[in-house]
Amino acid sequence: MRVSLTLLASASVVSAWTELLHKTIMHKNIDAIVSPGAYTSHMHTFFGSDAITNVMPTTEDLQQGCYSGSNPNDFSAYWIPTLYHVDGDKFTEVTLFTFGTYYTTAYAEIPIPKNFSMISGKASAKTQAEADHPENGLQWYCEESPGVLEPDAAKMPTKACQQHLRFSLLFPNCVDPNNISAYGFSDSATNNCPEGMKRMPQLRYSARYDTKKAAPNGWNGPAPFQLSCSDTPGDGYCFHGDFINGWYEDAALDMLIGDGNGRDDGRFISGSHGTSAIADNCNPTDQDPDNGTSDYLTSLEMKANGGIAALDPVVSTPSITSSTMSTSVTAPLATETGQKRRIGQKSKNSAKLRQRLYADSL
Ligand SMILES: *[C@@H]1O[C@H](CO)[C@@H](O)[C@H](O)[C@H]1NC(C)=O
Ligand SMILES: *[C@@H]1O[C@H](CO)[C@@H](O)[C@H](O)[C@H]1NC(C)=O
Ligand SMILES: *[C@@H]1O[C@H](CO)[C@@H](O)[C@H](O)[C@H]1NC(C)=O
Repeated sequence: MRVSLTLLASASVVSAWTELLHKTIMHKNIDAIVSPGAYTSHMHTFFGSDAITNVMPTTEDLQQGCYSGSNPNDFSAYWIPTLYHVDGDKFTEVTLFTFGTYYTTAYAEIPIPKNFSMISGKASAKTQAEADHPENGLQWYCEESPGVLEPDAAKMPTKACQQHLRFSLLFPNCVDPNNISAYGFSDSATNNCPEGMKRMPQLRYSARYDTKKAAPNGWNGPAPFQLSCSDTPGDGYCFHGDFINGWYEDAALDMLIGDGNGRDDGRFISGSHGTSAIADNCNPTDQDPDNGTSDYLTSLEMKANGGIAALDPVVSTPSITSSTMSTSVTAPLATETGQKRRIGQKSKNSAKLRQRLYADSL
């Protein structure tokens, strides 16, 4: 077993780190980047601007929304596969205790471009080798120290966590300014971006799941948690993150200023929309509540049927507790199927999330 966390080995001391915490907006079977316009995605959990739907938004579209984080300059959309506790055929959403997005400026040359979107990780990965990108640092681990990784860093811990279950995932930090569809990671040895690309601030997702609540009796062996992109409890390999830039331009530039002494800096990313953390005074909600689903089993049907739920009545899953769930749905006509299910609103633990910036404790 590897005993130490190798995370952030490449972070430089000139970097300024800022963490933004975000409340969960919704769980839904959409992905504007991978399956635009469709309701055929595996389930995702969304944070950031609530202007996100299954249609690819521009940066300005996202800024028309309501943000779930603590920085009024940031209307980015962030999403990850939904995590479920598995008990037989019962799938229960595991609530997030915190979901954080970190930005570091190390070596950044240009701001994150407008309209820029990216994915880190591989949704189809079933093994460490498939999950592995030398630079994305995907890791699952228990919060308590010392951090212990499985031999496969992207596998969930095989012993119950005393505290929260955590993951960490780094995003690409290089982009071609003339073609923002082309992005990648800098070389960890040389710090150079691939040919034709420039270095931008690096995003990282880091989160804590309330697994003690989900599995009070713990586990020994494969963790009883399954990602929506996986079919095997305990496998974390398919974990991935999606991002669409919603930062106001002035704040995206401000992010480039590396005035800190290291990754604990926590400097607030300022702009004309705010110079300190402000909790949202709006109520982030699904903007397309009549379409798609927040229900895991329904999402499987819709995925298999091209976005249409099966004609059989859907057995409700009262075990999925963190959303305002649909109750059982009587067979609607195929043409209107999938439109009857209310999408979950805010997760119940939202209130617990701290509305302030803080440095990563790793
Ligand atoms: C962002 O995309 C929209 C829609 O395609 C476009 O009108 C706008 O010019 C783009 N902004 C930039 C800075 O490329
Ligand atoms: C932009 O980059 C994408 C992704 O690498 C590539 O598929 C596409 O051909 C590029 N477009 C141009 C105009 O070079
Ligand atoms: C979403 O639902 C509304 C209301 O039922 C419907 O009018 C609309 O066509 C649906 N949109 C899509 C993309 O299915």
